[in-house]
Amino acid sequence: MTGATHAPGATVERRLLAGASDGRLETHLAEHGRMPALDAGQIIGMARDAGLTGRGGAGFPVWRKLSAVAAAGRPAVVIANAAEGEPASGKDKALLAYRPNLIFDGLQLAARATGARSAHLYAPQAALGAAGRVLDARRAAGLDAVPVTLQVAPDAFVAGEESAVVAAVSGRAAAPADKLIRVIESGVDGAPTLVQNVETLAHLAMIGRYGPRWFRAAGTPEEPGTFLATVGGAVTAPGVVEAGYGVRLGDLLAAAGGPSSRLQAVLVGGYHGGWAPADPALPVSRAALEPFGAAPGAGVVLALPEQACGLRETARIAGYLADQSAGQCGPCINGLPRIAATLADLAQHRARPGLPAEVQRLARLVSGRGACRHPDGTARLVLSGLRAFEADVAAHLVGRCLATR
Ligand SMILES: Cc1cc2nc3c(=O)[nH]c(=O)nc-3n(C[C@H](O)[C@H](O)[C@H](O)COP(=O)(O)O)c2cc1C
Ligand code: SF4
Repeated sequence: MTGATHAPGATVERRLLAGASDGRLETHLAEHGRMPALDAGQIIGMARDAGLTGRGGAGFPVWRKLSAVAAAGRPAVVIANAAEGEPASGKDKALLAYRPNLIFDGLQLAARATGARSAHLYAPQAALGAAGRVLDARRAAGLDAVPVTLQVAPDAFVAGEESAVVAAVSGRAAAPADKLIRVIESGVDGAPTLVQNVETLAHLAMIGRYGPRWFRAAGTPEEPGTFLATVGGAVTAPGVVEAGYGVRLGDLLAAAGGPSSRLQAVLVGGYHGGWAPADPALPVSRAALEPFGAAPGAGVVLALPEQACGLRETARIAGYLADQSAGQCGPCINGLPRIAATLADLAQHRARPGLPAEVQRLARLVSGRGACRHPDGTARLVLSGLRAFEADVAAHLVGRCLATR
Protein backbone atom coordinates (compact mmCIF):
# COMPACT_ATOMS: atom_id res chain seq x y z
CA MET A 1 0.00 0.00 0.00
CA THR A 2 1.19 3.53 -0.70
CA GLY A 3 -0.19 5.14 2.47
CA ALA A 4 -0.84 8.36 0.50
CA THR A 5 -3.86 10.37 1.58
CA HIS A 6 -6.90 10.47 -0.64
CA ALA A 7 -7.95 14.07 -1.37
CA PRO A 8 -11.58 15.11 -0.67
CA GLY A 9 -12.23 16.48 -4.20
CA ALA A 10 -10.74 13.43 -5.88
CA THR A 11 -13.69 11.35 -6.90
CA VAL A 12 -15.10 9.88 -10.07
CA GLU A 13 -17.44 12.63 -11.27
CA ARG A 14 -18.84 13.90 -14.53
CA ARG A 15 -18.20 17.53 -15.39
CA LEU A 16 -17.08 17.66 -19.03
CA LEU A 17 -19.04 14.47 -19.59
CA ALA A 18 -22.19 15.50 -17.66
CA GLY A 19 -25.49 15.72 -19.53
CA ALA A 20 -26.62 14.41 -22.90
CA SER A 21 -24.11 13.03 -25.38
CA ASP A 22 -25.67 13.88 -28.74
CA GLY A 23 -23.07 16.53 -29.58
CA ARG A 24 -25.78 18.91 -30.87
CA LEU A 25 -25.51 22.68 -30.45
CA GLU A 26 -29.09 23.07 -29.12
CA THR A 27 -28.37 20.51 -26.38
CA HIS A 28 -25.09 22.24 -25.52
CA LEU A 29 -26.72 25.69 -25.28
CA ALA A 30 -29.61 24.31 -23.22
CA GLU A 31 -27.11 22.80 -20.76
CA HIS A 32 -24.47 25.52 -20.58
CA GLY A 33 -25.90 28.65 -22.24
CA ARG A 34 -23.79 31.00 -24.35
CA MET A 35 -20.24 31.80 -23.29
CA PRO A 36 -20.08 35.08 -21.28
CA ALA A 37 -18.21 37.92 -23.02
CA LEU A 38 -14.68 37.80 -21.56
CA ASP A 39 -11.64 39.82 -22.59
CA ALA A 40 -8.10 38.47 -23.02
CA GLY A 41 -6.96 39.50 -19.53
CA GLN A 42 -9.97 37.87 -17.91
CA ILE A 43 -9.50 34.59 -19.79
CA ILE A 44 -5.80 34.36 -18.94
CA GLY A 45 -6.49 35.32 -15.31
CA MET A 46 -9.20 32.67 -14.99
CA ALA A 47 -6.94 29.96 -16.45
CA ARG A 48 -4.24 31.01 -13.95
CA ASP A 49 -6.55 31.13 -10.92
CA ALA A 50 -8.06 27.76 -11.84
CA GLY A 51 -4.59 26.18 -12.07
CA LEU A 52 -5.54 24.64 -15.42
CA THR A 53 -2.77 22.48 -16.90
CA GLY A 54 -2.54 20.82 -20.33
CA ARG A 55 -4.28 17.44 -20.72
CA GLY A 56 -2.23 16.33 -23.76
CA GLY A 57 0.61 14.80 -21.75
CA ALA A 58 3.09 17.33 -20.40
CA GLY A 59 0.78 19.11 -17.95
CA PHE A 60 2.09 22.62 -18.65
CA PRO A 61 0.20 25.60 -17.09
CA VAL A 62 -2.21 26.90 -19.74
CA TRP A 63 -2.13 30.55 -18.69
CA ARG A 64 1.62 30.70 -19.31
CA LYS A 65 1.20 29.53 -22.90
CA LEU A 66 -1.71 31.90 -23.47
CA SER A 67 0.30 34.82 -22.07
CA ALA A 68 3.41 33.99 -24.10
CA VAL A 69 1.49 33.81 -27.39
CA ALA A 70 -0.44 37.01 -26.55
CA ALA A 71 2.80 38.79 -25.61
CA ALA A 72 4.27 38.13 -29.07
CA GLY A 73 2.06 41.01 -30.20
CA ARG A 74 1.49 39.55 -33.70
CA PRO A 75 -1.61 37.85 -35.16
CA ALA A 76 -1.54 34.35 -33.72
CA VAL A 77 -2.81 30.93 -34.77
CA VAL A 78 -4.58 28.56 -32.36
CA ILE A 79 -4.86 24.82 -32.88
CA ALA A 80 -7.04 22.29 -31.04
CA ASN A 81 -5.05 19.07 -30.97
CA ALA A 82 -7.21 15.94 -31.21
CA ALA A 83 -4.58 13.78 -32.95
CA GLU A 84 -4.50 11.24 -30.11
CA GLY A 85 -1.87 9.03 -31.75
CA GLU A 86 -1.47 7.11 -28.49
CA PRO A 87 -3.00 3.66 -29.16
CA ALA A 88 -4.17 3.19 -25.56
CA SER A 89 -6.04 6.52 -25.46
CA GLY A 90 -9.60 7.23 -26.59
CA LYS A 91 -10.63 10.24 -24.51
CA ASP A 92 -10.08 12.91 -27.18
CA LYS A 93 -12.11 10.96 -29.76
CA ALA A 94 -14.88 10.53 -27.16
CA LEU A 95 -14.82 14.22 -26.24
CA LEU A 96 -14.95 15.27 -29.88
CA ALA A 97 -17.87 12.95 -30.55
CA TYR A 98 -19.89 13.81 -27.42
CA ARG A 99 -18.87 17.36 -26.39
CA PRO A 100 -17.55 19.07 -29.56
CA ASN A 101 -19.11 22.41 -28.61
CA LEU A 102 -17.09 22.63 -25.38
CA ILE A 103 -13.92 22.18 -27.46
CA PHE A 104 -14.94 24.87 -29.95
CA ASP A 105 -15.98 27.25 -27.14
CA GLY A 106 -12.55 26.76 -25.58
CA LEU A 107 -10.83 27.28 -28.91
CA GLN A 108 -12.64 30.62 -29.31
CA LEU A 109 -11.58 31.65 -25.79
CA ALA A 110 -7.97 30.72 -26.61
CA ALA A 111 -8.21 32.76 -29.83
CA ARG A 112 -9.56 35.76 -27.93
CA ALA A 113 -6.89 35.47 -25.24
CA THR A 114 -4.04 35.33 -27.76
CA GLY A 115 -5.35 37.69 -30.46
CA ALA A 116 -5.53 34.86 -33.00
CA ARG A 117 -6.99 35.45 -36.46
CA SER A 118 -7.19 31.80 -37.44
CA ALA A 119 -8.10 28.62 -35.62
CA HIS A 120 -7.82 24.95 -36.57
CA LEU A 121 -9.10 21.61 -35.38
CA TYR A 122 -6.50 18.89 -36.01
CA ALA A 123 -8.19 15.50 -35.74
CA PRO A 124 -8.33 12.03 -37.31
CA GLN A 125 -10.15 11.87 -40.66
CA ALA A 126 -13.00 9.81 -39.18
CA ALA A 127 -13.93 12.63 -36.77
CA LEU A 128 -13.91 15.52 -39.24
CA GLY A 129 -17.32 14.98 -40.91
CA ALA A 130 -19.26 15.32 -37.66
CA ALA A 131 -17.00 18.17 -36.47
CA GLY A 132 -17.68 20.04 -39.74
CA ARG A 133 -21.45 19.75 -39.19
CA VAL A 134 -21.10 21.14 -35.66
CA LEU A 135 -19.07 24.07 -37.02
CA ASP A 136 -21.79 24.76 -39.64
CA ALA A 137 -24.40 24.96 -36.88
CA ARG A 138 -22.19 27.27 -34.83
CA ARG A 139 -21.59 29.52 -37.83
CA ALA A 140 -25.34 29.76 -38.42
CA ALA A 141 -25.77 30.74 -34.74
CA GLY A 142 -22.99 33.36 -35.01
CA LEU A 143 -20.96 31.74 -32.24
CA ASP A 144 -17.45 31.69 -33.68
CA ALA A 145 -15.75 35.08 -34.03
CA VAL A 146 -12.62 33.39 -35.44
CA PRO A 147 -13.30 30.93 -38.29
CA VAL A 148 -12.19 27.35 -37.65
CA THR A 149 -10.71 25.14 -40.38
CA LEU A 150 -10.34 21.36 -40.24
CA GLN A 151 -7.04 19.57 -40.68
CA VAL A 152 -6.51 15.80 -40.94
CA ALA A 153 -4.23 14.24 -38.32
CA PRO A 154 -2.58 11.08 -39.67
CA ASP A 155 -2.73 7.94 -37.55
CA ALA A 156 0.82 7.96 -36.17
CA PHE A 157 2.19 8.26 -32.64
CA VAL A 158 4.32 11.35 -33.26
CA ALA A 159 1.69 13.16 -35.41
CA GLY A 160 0.28 14.83 -32.26
CA GLU A 161 3.60 16.31 -31.12
CA GLU A 162 3.23 20.08 -31.34
CA SER A 163 5.81 20.81 -34.03
CA ALA A 164 4.31 17.94 -36.09
CA VAL A 165 0.89 19.54 -35.61
CA VAL A 166 2.26 22.86 -36.84
CA ALA A 167 3.88 21.14 -39.84
CA ALA A 168 0.59 19.45 -40.80
CA VAL A 169 -1.44 22.66 -40.49
CA SER A 170 1.24 24.39 -42.64
CA GLY A 171 0.69 21.79 -45.38
CA ARG A 172 3.79 19.70 -44.74
CA ALA A 173 4.14 16.08 -43.54
CA ALA A 174 3.04 15.63 -39.91
CA ALA A 175 6.51 14.91 -38.52
CA PRO A 176 8.13 16.72 -35.60
CA ALA A 177 10.62 19.42 -36.55
CA ASP A 178 14.16 18.06 -36.77
CA LYS A 179 15.40 20.87 -34.57
CA LEU A 180 14.10 22.44 -31.39
CA ILE A 181 11.63 25.16 -32.28
CA ARG A 182 9.36 27.22 -30.08
CA VAL A 183 6.06 27.21 -31.93
CA ILE A 184 4.84 29.84 -29.45
CA GLU A 185 7.21 32.25 -31.21
CA SER A 186 7.24 30.82 -34.72
CA GLY A 187 4.66 28.24 -35.71
CA VAL A 188 2.23 28.15 -38.65
CA ASP A 189 3.69 30.42 -41.39
CA GLY A 190 5.99 31.97 -38.78
CA ALA A 191 3.06 33.20 -36.67
CA PRO A 192 3.00 32.75 -32.88
CA THR A 193 1.06 29.51 -32.48
CA LEU A 194 -0.80 27.96 -29.59
CA VAL A 195 -1.26 24.18 -29.71
CA GLN A 196 -3.59 22.97 -27.01
CA ASN A 197 -5.08 19.54 -26.40
CA VAL A 198 -8.86 19.39 -27.02
CA GLU A 199 -9.62 18.31 -23.46
CA THR A 200 -7.65 21.30 -22.15
CA LEU A 201 -9.79 23.60 -24.30
CA ALA A 202 -13.01 21.98 -23.06
CA HIS A 203 -11.91 22.64 -19.46
CA LEU A 204 -11.14 26.26 -20.42
CA ALA A 205 -14.71 26.60 -21.73
CA MET A 206 -16.07 25.29 -18.41
CA ILE A 207 -13.83 27.68 -16.44
CA GLY A 208 -15.00 30.58 -18.64
CA ARG A 209 -18.61 29.78 -17.66
CA TYR A 210 -18.40 28.50 -14.09
CA GLY A 211 -15.19 30.10 -12.82
CA PRO A 212 -11.88 29.05 -11.24
CA ARG A 213 -13.36 28.33 -7.81
CA TRP A 214 -15.85 25.84 -9.28
CA PHE A 215 -12.99 24.19 -11.22
CA ARG A 216 -10.89 23.87 -8.07
CA ALA A 217 -13.67 22.07 -6.18
CA ALA A 218 -12.50 18.92 -7.98
CA GLY A 219 -9.03 17.38 -7.69
CA THR A 220 -6.41 18.45 -5.16
CA PRO A 221 -5.18 21.95 -4.27
CA GLU A 222 -1.90 21.24 -6.12
CA GLU A 223 -3.53 19.46 -9.08
CA PRO A 224 -7.00 20.95 -9.47
CA GLY A 225 -9.84 19.88 -11.70
CA THR A 226 -10.98 16.68 -13.33
CA PHE A 227 -9.28 14.71 -16.09
CA LEU A 228 -10.47 12.19 -18.63
CA ALA A 229 -8.95 8.75 -18.12
CA THR A 230 -9.01 6.06 -20.78
CA VAL A 231 -9.20 2.93 -18.66
CA GLY A 232 -8.34 -0.26 -20.53
CA GLY A 233 -6.62 -3.62 -20.36
CA ALA A 234 -7.89 -6.11 -17.77
CA VAL A 235 -11.11 -4.32 -16.76
CA THR A 236 -14.67 -5.45 -17.37
CA ALA A 237 -15.95 -2.31 -19.12
CA PRO A 238 -13.05 -0.43 -20.75
CA GLY A 239 -13.83 3.19 -21.56
CA VAL A 240 -13.44 6.85 -20.71
CA VAL A 241 -13.95 7.88 -17.08
CA GLU A 242 -13.82 11.42 -15.66
CA ALA A 243 -12.38 11.99 -12.18
CA GLY A 244 -10.62 14.58 -10.06
CA TYR A 245 -6.83 14.34 -9.90
CA GLY A 246 -5.89 12.31 -6.86
CA VAL A 247 -8.77 9.84 -7.35
CA ARG A 248 -8.01 6.40 -5.94
CA LEU A 249 -6.89 3.95 -8.60
CA GLY A 250 -9.46 1.47 -7.25
CA ASP A 251 -12.30 3.97 -7.82
CA LEU A 252 -11.13 4.62 -11.38
CA LEU A 253 -10.94 0.90 -12.16
CA ALA A 254 -14.35 0.33 -10.52
CA ALA A 255 -15.86 2.99 -12.81
CA ALA A 256 -14.63 0.86 -15.74
CA GLY A 257 -16.40 -2.23 -14.40
CA GLY A 258 -13.57 -3.26 -12.06
CA PRO A 259 -10.63 -5.58 -12.77
CA SER A 260 -11.52 -8.60 -14.88
CA SER A 261 -8.82 -10.64 -13.11
CA ARG A 262 -6.18 -10.12 -10.43
CA LEU A 263 -3.86 -7.30 -11.47
CA GLN A 264 -0.09 -7.05 -11.08
CA ALA A 265 0.51 -3.47 -12.30
CA VAL A 266 -1.03 -0.54 -14.18
CA LEU A 267 0.55 1.48 -16.94
CA VAL A 268 -0.30 5.11 -16.17
CA GLY A 269 0.18 7.98 -18.62
CA GLY A 270 0.24 5.80 -21.74
CA TYR A 271 3.08 4.47 -23.85
CA HIS A 272 5.25 7.39 -22.69
CA GLY A 273 4.19 6.75 -19.10
CA GLY A 274 5.30 4.39 -16.39
CA TRP A 275 4.26 1.23 -14.54
CA ALA A 276 2.77 1.68 -11.08
CA PRO A 277 1.58 -0.93 -8.57
CA ALA A 278 -2.07 -2.04 -8.92
CA ASP A 279 -2.78 -0.69 -5.43
CA PRO A 280 -6.46 0.37 -5.16
CA ALA A 281 -5.48 3.12 -2.67
CA LEU A 282 -2.90 4.70 -4.98
CA PRO A 283 -3.95 8.30 -5.79
CA VAL A 284 -3.80 9.05 -9.52
CA SER A 285 -1.90 12.31 -9.29
CA ARG A 286 1.45 13.60 -10.42
CA ALA A 287 2.73 13.75 -6.83
CA ALA A 288 1.74 10.17 -5.92
CA LEU A 289 2.92 8.63 -9.20
CA GLU A 290 6.30 10.37 -9.34
CA PRO A 291 8.13 7.73 -7.23
CA PHE A 292 7.19 5.17 -9.92
CA GLY A 293 8.43 7.34 -12.78
CA ALA A 294 4.82 7.78 -13.91
CA ALA A 295 2.36 10.69 -14.21
CA PRO A 296 -1.30 10.99 -15.22
CA GLY A 297 -0.09 12.41 -18.58
CA ALA A 298 -2.88 12.19 -21.12
CA GLY A 299 -4.91 9.99 -18.75
CA VAL A 300 -4.24 6.44 -19.95
CA VAL A 301 -4.66 3.74 -17.29
CA LEU A 302 -3.93 0.25 -18.63
CA ALA A 303 -4.45 -2.67 -16.25
CA LEU A 304 -2.04 -5.60 -16.58
CA PRO A 305 -3.43 -8.96 -15.42
CA GLU A 306 -1.40 -11.06 -13.01
CA GLN A 307 -0.94 -13.88 -15.55
CA ALA A 308 0.70 -11.60 -18.17
CA CYS A 309 4.44 -10.98 -18.47
CA GLY A 310 5.10 -7.31 -17.71
CA LEU A 311 8.53 -7.53 -19.28
CA ARG A 312 7.12 -8.87 -22.54
CA GLU A 313 4.45 -6.14 -22.55
CA THR A 314 7.10 -3.45 -21.97
CA ALA A 315 9.21 -4.91 -24.81
CA ARG A 316 6.18 -4.92 -27.13
CA ILE A 317 5.46 -1.24 -26.41
CA ALA A 318 9.16 -0.31 -26.79
CA GLY A 319 9.15 -2.02 -30.21
CA TYR A 320 6.06 -0.08 -31.25
CA LEU A 321 7.60 3.23 -30.08
CA ALA A 322 10.87 2.55 -31.91
CA ASP A 323 8.87 1.92 -35.12
CA GLN A 324 6.88 5.11 -34.64
CA SER A 325 9.82 7.54 -34.48
CA ALA A 326 10.14 10.11 -37.23
CA GLY A 327 13.66 8.76 -37.90
CA GLN A 328 15.30 12.18 -38.01
CA CYS A 329 17.44 12.43 -34.89
CA GLY A 330 20.29 10.24 -33.65
CA PRO A 331 18.55 8.91 -30.52
CA CYS A 332 15.57 7.74 -32.59
CA ILE A 333 17.59 6.33 -35.50
CA ASN A 334 20.19 4.50 -33.41
CA GLY A 335 19.02 4.42 -29.81
CA LEU A 336 15.35 3.36 -29.81
CA PRO A 337 15.75 0.32 -32.11
CA ARG A 338 18.66 -0.88 -29.96
CA ILE A 339 16.68 -0.42 -26.76
CA ALA A 340 13.74 -2.30 -28.30
CA ALA A 341 15.95 -5.12 -29.63
CA THR A 342 17.80 -5.55 -26.32
CA LEU A 343 14.55 -5.59 -24.37
CA ALA A 344 13.08 -8.08 -26.86
CA ASP A 345 16.10 -10.38 -26.33
CA LEU A 346 15.49 -10.20 -22.59
CA ALA A 347 11.75 -10.82 -22.93
CA GLN A 348 12.05 -13.61 -25.52
CA HIS A 349 14.50 -15.83 -23.62
CA ARG A 350 17.59 -14.76 -25.51
CA ALA A 351 18.84 -13.24 -22.24
CA ARG A 352 22.47 -12.61 -21.43
CA PRO A 353 23.58 -11.25 -18.02
CA GLY A 354 24.50 -7.74 -19.26
CA LEU A 355 21.18 -7.01 -20.99
CA PRO A 356 19.29 -5.12 -18.24
CA ALA A 357 22.29 -2.84 -17.64
CA GLU A 358 22.59 -2.30 -21.40
CA VAL A 359 18.91 -1.25 -21.67
CA GLN A 360 19.41 1.16 -18.75
CA ARG A 361 22.55 2.62 -20.32
CA LEU A 362 20.87 3.16 -23.69
CA ALA A 363 17.73 4.63 -22.11
CA ARG A 364 19.79 7.20 -20.21
CA LEU A 365 21.83 7.93 -23.34
CA VAL A 366 18.82 8.87 -25.52
CA SER A 367 17.03 10.99 -22.88
CA GLY A 368 17.00 14.69 -23.68
CA ARG A 369 18.86 14.16 -26.95
CA GLY A 370 16.04 14.29 -29.53
CA ALA A 371 14.41 17.31 -31.13
CA CYS A 372 11.16 16.20 -29.50
CA ARG A 373 10.39 14.23 -26.35
CA HIS A 374 9.76 10.88 -28.03
CA PRO A 375 13.10 9.37 -26.90
CA ASP A 376 12.55 10.66 -23.34
CA GLY A 377 9.07 9.15 -23.17
CA THR A 378 10.31 5.82 -24.50
CA ALA A 379 13.21 5.78 -22.02
CA ARG A 380 10.84 6.56 -19.15
CA LEU A 381 8.59 3.62 -20.07
CA VAL A 382 11.48 1.19 -20.41
CA LEU A 383 13.21 2.20 -17.17
CA SER A 384 9.98 1.97 -15.22
CA GLY A 385 9.36 -1.50 -16.74
CA LEU A 386 12.76 -2.74 -15.55
CA ARG A 387 12.00 -1.44 -12.05
CA ALA A 388 8.41 -2.66 -11.83
CA PHE A 389 9.16 -6.13 -13.23
CA GLU A 390 12.48 -6.73 -11.49
CA ALA A 391 11.42 -10.27 -10.51
CA ASP A 392 10.47 -11.07 -14.14
CA VAL A 393 13.85 -9.75 -15.32
CA ALA A 394 15.64 -12.03 -12.83
CA ALA A 395 13.53 -15.00 -13.94
CA HIS A 396 14.18 -14.35 -17.64
CA LEU A 397 17.93 -14.18 -16.98
CA VAL A 398 17.80 -17.80 -15.79
CA GLY A 399 15.55 -18.94 -18.64
CA ARG A 400 12.24 -18.78 -16.78
CA CYS A 401 9.14 -16.60 -17.01
CA LEU A 402 6.78 -15.79 -14.14
CA ALA A 403 3.79 -15.36 -16.44
CA THR A 404 1.23 -18.13 -16.41
CA ARG A 405 0.34 -17.95 -20.08
C1 LIG B 1 5.67 12.01 -29.46
C2 LIG B 1 4.63 12.93 -28.93
C3 LIG B 1 3.29 12.75 -29.30
C4 LIG B 1 2.29 13.62 -28.82
N1 LIG B 1 0.99 13.39 -29.19
C5 LIG B 1 0.01 14.22 -28.73
C6 LIG B 1 -1.36 14.01 -29.10
O1 LIG B 1 -1.69 13.07 -29.84
N2 LIG B 1 -2.29 14.89 -28.61
C7 LIG B 1 -1.94 15.94 -27.79
O2 LIG B 1 -2.80 16.71 -27.39
N3 LIG B 1 -0.66 16.16 -27.42
C8 LIG B 1 0.32 15.32 -27.88
N4 LIG B 1 1.62 15.56 -27.52
C9 LIG B 1 1.92 16.74 -26.70
C10 LIG B 1 2.02 17.97 -27.61
O3 LIG B 1 3.37 18.09 -28.05
C11 LIG B 1 1.66 19.26 -26.88
O4 LIG B 1 2.42 19.36 -25.71
C12 LIG B 1 0.17 19.33 -26.52
O5 LIG B 1 -0.67 19.14 -27.63
C13 LIG B 1 -0.10 20.68 -25.90
O6 LIG B 1 -1.40 20.73 -25.39
P1 LIG B 1 -1.71 20.79 -23.84
O7 LIG B 1 -0.74 21.80 -23.23
O8 LIG B 1 -3.13 21.26 -23.81
O9 LIG B 1 -1.52 19.43 -23.28
C14 LIG B 1 2.64 14.69 -27.97
C15 LIG B 1 3.99 14.87 -27.60
C16 LIG B 1 4.96 14.00 -28.05
C17 LIG B 1 6.39 14.20 -27.63
S1 SF4 C 1 13.40 12.77 -31.45
FE1 SF4 C 1 12.66 11.12 -32.77
S2 SF4 C 1 10.47 11.48 -33.04
FE2 SF4 C 1 11.38 13.38 -32.21
S3 SF4 C 1 11.91 14.63 -34.01
FE3 SF4 C 1 13.74 13.42 -33.56
S4 SF4 C 1 13.53 11.54 -34.79
FE4 SF4 C 1 11.53 12.52 -34.73
